[in-house]
Amino acid sequence: MPRKPFVGGNWKSNGTIDSAKELCRSLTSGSAAYRNKVDVVMCPIIPQMSLVSKFVRKSPLRVGAQNVSATGEGAFTGEVSAGQLKDSGIQWTLIGHSERRTKYGETDAVTADKIAQCQEAGVSVIFCIGELLEEREAGKTDEVNKRMMDAVYSKIKDWKKVVIAYEPVWAIGTGKVATPEQAQDAHAAIRKMISSAVSEEVAESVRILYGGSVTADNCKELIGKPDIDGFLVGGASLKPTFTDIVTACVPAIPLKKPKFMKIDGVEPAARGVNIYAKVVKAASKVEGSEDLMEVVVGDDTALVTLSVRDDRVKVCEVGKSLRIQNAHVAMIKGYIRVTVDKWAALKLAEADDEVASVNEKKDMSGVEYELTKN
Ligand code: PGA
Repeated sequence: MPRKPFVGGNWKSNGTIDSAKELCRSLTSGSAAYRNKVDVVMCPIIPQMSLVSKFVRKSPLRVGAQNVSATGEGAFTGEVSAGQLKDSGIQWTLIGHSERRTKYGETDAVTADKIAQCQEAGVSVIFCIGELLEEREAGKTDEVNKRMMDAVYSKIKDWKKVVIAYEPVWAIGTGKVATPEQAQDAHAAIRKMISSAVSEEVAESVRILYGGSVTADNCKELIGKPDIDGFLVGGASLKPTFTDIVTACVPAIPLKKPKFMKIDGVEPAARGVNIYAKVVKAASKVEGSEDLMEVVVGDDTALVTLSVRDDRVKVCEVGKSLRIQNAHVAMIKGYIRVTVDKWAALKLAEADDEVASVNEKKDMSGVEYELTKN
């Protein structure tokens, strides 16, 4: 089962009632594109939680807290317990955000107590981990993440109520985003840790988000990485373009490997191939050509290089899904090359295109693949 993407918006200590209203208006208006496809949880300040919940009631957006008490109800001035969040209709909370850890002295033991409280109350948790700059420079990223994870395993009984957010502290609010490779390496290592500490099944199903200076521009390459399942967004969650970050996470419907791979039976060339795939690498110029660009599309099972001419390349943005019809396919030096020339049609797939499988159909020109609706 593929993991459903998840995007959290951490508003931190920002905003007024008016700015919250305004933001909700713009976020709910774009929600048709990601309804049922991406889980989205926004975390405003405590006094705005019920108001924001009301504003987004009919949308797929959900509201979470930024913090929760390590204790239950009682004489704990200033604290809100997990049970009280639940009682107020709040189903999510952040725990262990680096600002809580570094500015308010939240220790690993405290994060463990908070998780235990949430598990007991049935509140879902976005558990934040990540290393400081000096820890990264000392090569201790995995060690720090492991320490933070080790602290909480014994408290988690229901992993369905836990999402991990890997947020390198040096990338938070600094504009300095981790490279997709750095983030992927850390995420893969965290998944491996969970696999040995808990089980392979939990490791495969738990969602691991990246956080730290995520924007509508840099999120597309990050989400293309296999172990990045979404984002925890701070600054950019206060802007209407937060919707673009969420829609970038809408998964392309994957091509099925065996059928897709049959394209390599095309000898020496065939026209009439239809493909539905997500752009995973931005267009780059083909050396020695005036206007020919190369774009890589595909899914977890296979990648194909598209040759695209002129202004068609404009729709080939990383993260966007394309519908390509009547393309020209050839084997060149053992590689499949799909050319989108003037006979072919290339356009963005509709957000709710229900294309779900690629069916093979023989014709005179060779092998034809046709997209069908389920
Ligand atoms: P940022 O914050 O996106 O502003 O870097 C991320 C976070 O603190 O969760």
